[in-house]
Amino acid sequence: MLDHLKANNRAWSQRMVAADAGFFRRLERQQAPQYLWIGCSDSRVPANEIVGLDPGELFVHRNVANLAPPQDANYLSVLQFAVDVLRVKHVIVVGHYGCGGVGAAVDGTRRGLVDHWLHPIREVYHEHRQALEAIPDQSARLDRLCELNVIRQVKNVASDVFVQDAWARGQDLQVHGWVYALGNGLVRDLEVTVGGPQAVENLG
Ligand code: CO
Repeated sequence: MLDHLKANNRAWSQRMVAADAGFFRRLERQQAPQYLWIGCSDSRVPANEIVGLDPGELFVHRNVANLAPPQDANYLSVLQFAVDVLRVKHVIVVGHYGCGGVGAAVDGTRRGLVDHWLHPIREVYHEHRQALEAIPDQSARLDRLCELNVIRQVKNVASDVFVQDAWARGQDLQVHGWVYALGNGLVRDLEVTVGGPQAVENLG
């Protein structure tokens, strides 16, 4: 069963050890990533590969449409561990153009549980309805919604109590918003970086 995956795994492990004999033994003792990546589950958006980081260098949380909902225990557990224990220096919310989750949030089709999960995106849509509906091209409008969703999630992360407390005790921590383009493999910085408690209110 899944023999090709197991063979890939053995080859990968051998390559890593050939390049650096102590690699896995070092990682076994501790991880010290500087970055938390909050991204979409989409198989086309592989966190480590996009930014060229090895195992141990990127703490990762992924879900449908890269959400950071203030009541989601899974996301909050990851965030608190990253901020309080790992003391990452950067949280990066990474959306992507052509996100199926973002599209599904606003296409009016009922799908079940995921409709509840995607509800925050519909709220962002309604708040920016005028500007969005002024964009005639459907895919350009959804791409803008992908960006607005990232900005909202940056705001969620930056206003979270774990992050606010970290800033209050002087911890060096920045929250960033990026969008990844499936068509060329490049990330775009939305330039909504927040590095302290005062800047949060200006975000959309
Ligand atoms: Co997506």
